[in-house]
Amino acid sequence: MNILLTGGAGYIGSHTAVSLIEAGHDVAVVDDYSNSSDEAVKRVEKITGRSVNLYEADVADKKKAMEILKKEMPDCIIHFAGLKSVGESIEKPIEYYRNNIDTTLTLLECMRELGLSNIVFSSSATVYGDDHTPPFTEEMSKGMCTNPYGWTKWMQEQMLDDAQTASEKGGDWKKPLSVVLLRYFNPVGAHESGLIGEDPQGIPNNLMPYISQVAVGRREKLTVFGDDYDTPDGTCRRDYIHVMDLAEGHVAAAEYAAGRSGTEIFNLGTGTPYSVLEMVNAFSKACGHEVAYEIGPRRAGDVQDSWSDATKAEKVLGWAAKRGIEEICRDAWNWQSQNPNGYNN
Ligand code: NAD
Ligand code: WQD
Repeated sequence: MNILLTGGAGYIGSHTAVSLIEAGHDVAVVDDYSNSSDEAVKRVEKITGRSVNLYEADVADKKKAMEILKKEMPDCIIHFAGLKSVGESIEKPIEYYRNNIDTTLTLLECMRELGLSNIVFSSSATVYGDDHTPPFTEEMSKGMCTNPYGWTKWMQEQMLDDAQTASEKGGDWKKPLSVVLLRYFNPVGAHESGLIGEDPQGIPNNLMPYISQVAVGRREKLTVFGDDYDTPDGTCRRDYIHVMDLAEGHVAAAEYAAGRSGTEIFNLGTGTPYSVLEMVNAFSKACGHEVAYEIGPRRAGDVQDSWSDATKAEKVLGWAAKRGIEEICRDAWNWQSQNPNGYNN
């Protein structure tokens, strides 16, 4: 298939590009580099030995999006493009709603005009909100989000599903849509080569890149946000999934989306939670020295526990995460130690 990745120069998109190419698909990327650069795509080409059609554009810009989509006429779009920082979304809600919602609306309008029918969307476990007890299943109702970023994912899921329903009735739609909503848990790690990985700008918000930067000497110590939760070691538990497992989940989802219609939701997680301190200890083993940390207060908005029931993806897509905490830490360290300053090396 010819697959277009919006936001394909970013962390998850670049890893997915590798897996798609290795599975025999052709890949095109459109990105505005608002949180990335073309370097990641060059490295994807280096890993795979294949070229990627690369377009620099804002996906919300309909004129440009139409030009690119007309040229590519992809069999499937995987829509990664979006702003993703929870904290920043609280400070800049308008920018988050504008960018994330507009990219999806523009893509849907273009798909309707061009008769493109398959789309896979990067959603998030954040849509479960804090109304449920894990493991989260896809049948659970979406919850109340705690920040604008989460609401953009919640709303984009709704918009895609509403468009799918309308497309079944014909009207302006040439074909019924096939929508796959992927709810990621906590993507971490890097490609085994160490050539691509997570490269956050500024001070990392997320645990794993923070730990990696302490390990490589870029930051002094990690602050663990609270050790007084009702968990075995008092720290929060999450479902950390290796980004290459996640990437392979996208291959399965894109292949599933083709040739059907409807909306289908899949959790992409491992089903196994680890605490913050378990992650710190596993990383210390992987890098061969202690990762310095101190215990700090809880972070506002954190839920105590979040992990998936990942059985639906296994049953329907034939996909399950294969890599564990050791591979996650090994590959994150391999990337960080080879690229201490990320892609700016
Ligand atoms: P990322 O920031 O590395 O990648 C997103 C890419 O989209 C970046 O390259 C950015 O430049 C690009 N982009 C943003 N707005 C754009 C626009 N208007 N037009 C074109 N390109 C645009 O983030 P990521 O971690 O790779 O996340 C990919 C997707 O997965 C996002 O939608 C994110 O919300 C979602 N997601 C991420 C996580 C996570 O923890 N990383 C978890 C759940 C869901
Ligand atoms: C994990 C654990 C922190 C940093 C976020 C978004 C979610 C999704 C993935 C996109 C928590 C603790 C963290 C630090 C710490 N993104 N921590 N010290 O919050 O589970 O999920 O990213 O959709 O929407 O909310 O991930 O990596 O920030 O935190 O102790 O310096 O690590 O308290 O328990 P989170 P995270």
